[in-house]
Amino acid sequence: MLQSLFRARPTRVWLLLGGAATLIGLAALFAAFWIFIQAPRAQAYAAQPLPFEHSKHVQAGVNCFFCHPGATNGPVAGLPSLAKCMGCHVAITPKDAKDQADIDKLIKQWETGRPIRWVKIFEQPDFVRFNHRPHLAQGVACETCHGNVAEMGYAQVYNLNMGFCLNCHRAQSAEKVTRLIDCATCHY
Ligand code: HEC
Ligand code: HEC
Ligand code: HEC
Ligand code: HEC
Ligand code: HEC
Repeated sequence: MLQSLFRARPTRVWLLLGGAATLIGLAALFAAFWIFIQAPRAQAYAAQPLPFEHSKHVQAGVNCFFCHPGATNGPVAGLPSLAKCMGCHVAITPKDAKDQADIDKLIKQWETGRPIRWVKIFEQPDFVRFNHRPHLAQGVACETCHGNVAEMGYAQVYNLNMGFCLNCHRAQSAEKVTRLIDCATCHY
């Protein structure tokens, strides 16, 4: 079979080799695309309406709760209004002069009077029941569920699916586990 192939006219061999190469190329492209769409969602940055970097604010000593006060006691941690940003930014000049251009964007929007609508990253479906309070009361750190936000620019998607919730609930003390893995604990 192979011998007859190579005894065939050279053009036919080249055509076959070319065809095989094309197929391999297509397979590689498909594989690359597959890896790309399967890659952790944490890679994706949402398109947010204004510049903001967690890292610079946390480094400057601003506490998570100053901007997300609801995280202590409710399901809604809250995202800061432009008024809250301006509370600091009417007066603060950034260390890096290049950053002033970003602050000018805030000031410009502030002058139009339009509110800011941050794109929400951690949005649970309506049938999921969640509250920050019991978690913080038990000392679960923000990073456990949200990743190391303090080193991020914009917040990024992190693994908040049912398996992630259940893994930790199953690891709680025996007398609590039954309740913590009950469907009705997390679902309406
Ligand atoms: C046990 C996991 C867990 C921990 C710990 C946790 N969060 Fe959350 N957080 C969530 C989930 C789940 C949502 C989505 C809630 C929803 O959409 O109903 C959320 C939503 C948010 C939001 C989105 C805004 C909003 O109002 O919903 C912010 C901001 C936030 N968390 C900040 C924090 C901060 C700050 C901490 C630490 C003090 C923290 N979270 C700790 C799971 C957690
Ligand atoms: C408690 C005060 C405070 C609040 C509130 C605050 N910032 Fe800042 N912000 C700072 C400080 C301090 C810096 C300078 C950090 C530096 O220069 O390293 C800064 C820097 C910045 C910069 C320039 C750095 C960059 O990434 O280009 C932008 C943009 C910015 N803040 C946006 C915001 C937005 C948007 C909000 C509201 C969601 C906000 N800030 C709320 C204190 C604050
Ligand atoms: C100066 C205000 C400020 C501080 C301080 C701050 N954040 Fe944020 N946070 C924001 C803004 C503005 C957004 C919306 C833009 C974005 O997603 O990054 C946000 C978004 C988030 C989100 C994603 C919420 C969602 O579902 O869209 C999480 C989680 C979060 N912050 C956690 C934290 C944690 C943890 C800390 C402390 C380590 C912290 N933040 C400190 C202003 C702040
Ligand atoms: C890292 C561990 C951890 C993760 C992750 C976690 N939880 Fe929890 N959860 C706890 C602990 C600890 C408690 C408090 C148990 C207690 O009352 O002592 C709790 C309590 C709860 C409660 C209240 C239960 C009750 O009846 O008092 C709900 C609802 C809940 N979690 C939902 C969720 C959801 C939804 C997720 C995923 C988005 C999640 N949890 C992720 C550890 C976790
Ligand atoms: C600790 C909290 C928790 C418990 C307990 C829990 N779930 Fe969930 N469940 C979730 C979260 C969070 C989601 C949303 C996941 C997402 O957005 O990826 C979810 C999603 C689902 C979905 C939708 C799946 C999908 O792909 O959209 C179904 C169905 C479901 N849960 C059924 C159950 C059943 C049945 C039980 C009891 C055996 C249960 N869950 C117990 C947290 C929980």
